[in-house]
Amino acid sequence: MAKNFEVPIVSAMKKYSADGVLPFHTPGHKQGRGAHEFLRELLTAEGLRQEVSLMEELDDLHEPHSCIKKAQKLAAELWHADECLFMVNGTTAAVQTMIFGTLKEGDLIFIPRNAHRSVISGLILSGAVPIFLPVEFDEEFSLPLNVSVETIERAIKKFPQAKAVLLVSPNYYGVAADLEKISRLVHAAGMILLIDEAHGAHLRFCEKLPRSAMDAGADLAAQSTHKILGSLTQSSMLMLKKNFIDAEKIRRAASLLQTTSPNQLLLASLDIARLQMELGGREKISKAVELSKILRAEIKKIHGLKTFETVKNFSLDATKVTVNVQNSGLTGQVAEKILREELKVQCELSDAANLLFLITFADAAETISKLAAALKVLASRPQKKISLLPPILSREISLSELSPRETFYSPTEVVPIKKSVGRICAEEITFYPPGIPLLMPGEKISSEVVEQIERGKFSGGRVIGASDLTLSTIKIVQ
Ligand SMILES: Cc1ncc(COP(=O)(O)O)c(C=O)c1O
Repeated sequence: MAKNFEVPIVSAMKKYSADGVLPFHTPGHKQGRGAHEFLRELLTAEGLRQEVSLMEELDDLHEPHSCIKKAQKLAAELWHADECLFMVNGTTAAVQTMIFGTLKEGDLIFIPRNAHRSVISGLILSGAVPIFLPVEFDEEFSLPLNVSVETIERAIKKFPQAKAVLLVSPNYYGVAADLEKISRLVHAAGMILLIDEAHGAHLRFCEKLPRSAMDAGADLAAQSTHKILGSLTQSSMLMLKKNFIDAEKIRRAASLLQTTSPNQLLLASLDIARLQMELGGREKISKAVELSKILRAEIKKIHGLKTFETVKNFSLDATKVTVNVQNSGLTGQVAEKILREELKVQCELSDAANLLFLITFADAAETISKLAAALKVLASRPQKKISLLPPILSREISLSELSPRETFYSPTEVVPIKKSVGRICAEEITFYPPGIPLLMPGEKISSEVVEQIERGKFSGGRVIGASDLTLSTIKIVQ
């Protein structure tokens, strides 16, 4: 078979299924024989026939030596990594592996204040201690951007003993950090660069998009193949460059954090997603970029809606189209509800001011024009412009007082917020907007942050994460 058409995992599954072996092994439905008709409808007879695992010829995710090893090697080559690990516990496990596989108890790591919860769970598992980095914010669109190069420079100067920098790039809205400059700074300081690239598995296939983490010099990148490319939900890839990383430790960490019964269909879907990108990735992703350009041009014609295609000081993944609905008199949440219930269009997410639409290679001129038409209807009901309050943001580069692991295991108590100064926070306090936490578990509560919380309370910002949403009280470590 020509290299281009190789799908090692899929081929091994087909071979096992075609062999006609009488199964006295897991799974209990025995290649579909005992499956309920609902399951058969969902997965098809062929899908169930191939939904087996742990057979010798299907390889072992935890000690890959045949088809999984080969499929991972093909993926590593395509994404310009030295090695790739297939993940069946989502990008959550890939992010946890990056942290758990590189840091130990007490090691310092820089993370953006609005990191995904998988980062915090990785810190709980490893015992590493976060230093929170401020995230830039765009007030016009009321949107979190990313961490600037200047912040990284300041951070490294302030905490030269840190071991790693973790960034989310691109973020949900497609805003990417300057990873090329940052990787040079990070490596020059003797640290490693870990990228949560959950939203960027497609970057490598189009020059018009921000550079991928691997191409920009990162050491590890956790990619949600399932979010943007064509694999099944829950399947992801972890890419690594070996220069500054102990690959064996990463493999062991991934193995510790993953199931011993990986679903074969998830593994096959990663193999197929790689094939799909290998055969036509450039055309597919370029098409998505072109379609998003057409969509933006249409949005610009709609009175009351705003979008953007560039972001000051950051690069943007054009396939993430943010639509600001403030001038149409709607909040993002109300706009999402109208789109979903009346116009049968579902966005990826909404916030106080925006809707986010993901354009992928699965889209076509027709889906784009339908979306543009729905947005026109949405904006056609004139209402008073909504004005949002200025965001309350932390600009500090601050070391957590207690590690997330110590905080997780500590007994907690609830006290009036005014009496919490000097104590250690045991929960996350976030106002929406900006959606960037003011306090994270393990952080010392300063009088400035209490003032910010009071200001946020009286300015009517929506609170998320807190056990007391009125913020009269706060949960602290005893
Ligand atoms: C930035 C980021 N990182 C990690 C994850 C976790 O990915 P998964 O849901 O595949 O576990 C997500 C999920 O939304 C995410 O947005």
